[in-house]
Amino acid sequence: MEVDPRVTLLDTLRERLDLTGTKKGCDRGQCGACTVHIGGRRVRSCLTLAATTDGREVTTIEGLAKGDRRHPMQQAFVERDGLQCGFCTPGQIMSAVGMVNEGHAKSDDDIRERMSGSICRCSCYPFIVEAIKDAQKVMR
Ligand code: FES
Ligand code: FES
Repeated sequence: MEVDPRVTLLDTLRERLDLTGTKKGCDRGQCGACTVHIGGRRVRSCLTLAATTDGREVTTIEGLAKGDRRHPMQQAFVERDGLQCGFCTPGQIMSAVGMVNEGHAKSDDDIRERMSGSICRCSCYPFIVEAIKDAQKVMR
């Protein structure tokens, strides 16, 4: 696939590849709605030029589930009612999976600090912390 070197990964995913699970919230690196994984690490796709991902593995929220089986983090968000609006939830889940895989989710404070790049203003945070702790047990 050829992309204009000025086009972001976020716009490429959504507009060219129809992978609309990744959301455009602020489009300036502040809200976390656009979080995806590149080579297993979480990044903001609105601040990433698509051309810089050439040859690298990009995972979006669409790629987390295995067929009909939800990823443990998706399942935990459902069970803990951590789901929020369609805008912030995909980014929250991608960030949470990245954080657990990085091995940094050791306490509630760790989780809050390391999830602080994902902004929601609707007070669902306690459920998200519980969901992440549930998923972490299964992901080990
Ligand atoms: S859309 Fe990328 S951080 Fe908000
Ligand atoms: S921003 Fe999505 S529920 Fe608050």
